[in-house]
Amino acid sequence: METAKVMIRLATKADTPELYRVEQRCFDAESFSRRQVNYLAVQSSGSFWVLTEDEKIAGFIVLLQRANSRALRAYSLAVAPEFRGKKYAQQLMQKADQQAQELGKDRLYLEVSEHNHGAIQLYRKLGFELTGIRPRYYRDGSNACLMEKKVED
Ligand SMILES: CC(C)(COP(=O)(O)OP(=O)(O)OC[C@H]1O[C@@H](n2cnc3c(N)ncnc32)[C@H](O)[C@@H]1OP(=O)(O)O)[C@@H](O)C(=O)NCCC(=O)NCCS
Repeated sequence: METAKVMIRLATKADTPELYRVEQRCFDAESFSRRQVNYLAVQSSGSFWVLTEDEKIAGFIVLLQRANSRALRAYSLAVAPEFRGKKYAQQLMQKADQQAQELGKDRLYLEVSEHNHGAIQLYRKLGFELTGIRPRYYRDGSNACLMEKKVED
């Protein structure tokens, strides 16, 4: 069997339907609408990166930056169920790290549900630390953990 070709690139408008499908399968109550996906992928000032395996979208990360902030926000991260366990989320977070460096930011931060043990494990492995709790942040009433990581120069 040939090795799969894995690439990380910016999303385009043409990716919107596939991104929306991946999104819907990864998040339930908290998922973006089709319009939000389109907006984030095409029009927002953030960057929407997709990871493809043999040209199929396996996962994505959305990064949001504010001009006056020293921190870059990892707004959303997802890998489709059939592509999990292949270090794709790790590679997408490494892309975020690289972006943060290129933008001259000194921190990466994110919010994650207190119940999302898999994701918390991933972020800890990548050097994120718990820096705060946002009470009742999600629609189901659960708390968000605020996690941050220093970006190397
Ligand atoms: C969380 C998610 C992005 C992980 O994607 P993935 O590509 O399977 O993760 P990786 O293969 O890159 O994992 C790298 C490391 O993170 C940790 N990890 C990832 N998923 C884990 C899980 N479910 N349970 C425990 N540890 C996990 C492990 O340490 C893993 O290393 P290992 O394979 O050597 O054990 C994916 O499960 C997902 O999309 N979930 C639904 C959406 C979501 O929760 N997104 C995060 C919102 S904040």
